[in-house]
Amino acid sequence: MARRKIIAGNWKMNMTPSQAVALCAELKDLVKSDSVDVVYCVPAIDIVPVAQAVKGTNVQVGAENLYIEDKGAYTGEISAPMLVDAGVKFVIIGHSERREYFKEDDAFLNKKVKKAFEAGLTPILCCGETLEQREMGVTMDWIRLQIKSDLVGITADQVKSMVIAYEPIWAIGTGKTATTEQAEEVCKGIRECIAEIYDQATADAVRIQYGGSVNAGNAAELFAQPDIDGGLVGGASLKADFGKIVNY
Ligand code: PGA
Repeated sequence: MARRKIIAGNWKMNMTPSQAVALCAELKDLVKSDSVDVVYCVPAIDIVPVAQAVKGTNVQVGAENLYIEDKGAYTGEISAPMLVDAGVKFVIIGHSERREYFKEDDAFLNKKVKKAFEAGLTPILCCGETLEQREMGVTMDWIRLQIKSDLVGITADQVKSMVIAYEPIWAIGTGKTATTEQAEEVCKGIRECIAEIYDQATADAVRIQYGGSVNAGNAAELFAQPDIDGGLVGGASLKADFGKIVNY
């Protein structure tokens, strides 16, 4: 079953609104593609100008976070209906930086996944192990625990439509990419986990990205793996190289 590849940039806390608009203009022709989905996940303050800047192009807009309530006294937070109204289609949930620095745990992330679906957003749910966990040999146990906890109460049809990003923490922003074999092994393991919780049709439909120092040089080999359906790209999404990754 052919899954359409999805290449998403995760801008993290980079790009002021004016820089964001300039980057969209720089990348516009470079990221053109009929064969893959292209998403820019951008800081909240950049969402409105980026949505405007990519209007009429093949680029879709994603957010990097959302809150679990629709509105109210939650100073500083941004809700799913706000994102939808601004033109957002995707939302990153459970990035390791949020898990680590902002202490977001799986129970909270599960609420975020539910809220995203309720609002009509497509979650890009991140999972991944630390170097210590990999060396201890518990990578797949850890990731299965994350996936199972984050997807409690989520239906098979919802899972079919979502994106899961495998991002080994030791490979993020380090220039140290997982080997193609390591990336494929875990993405395959995630698919098997989805087949166990749901069924084979759901596992065959869900798109699983690899993330962690993806660049113009390693994208083609990574994305050629049977269980890797694209990438979540940090550093390299902020420059012209992102065009090469999209057109790997
Ligand atoms: P990186 O980040 O490509 O800079 O390693 C990936 C991510 O954190 O999503």
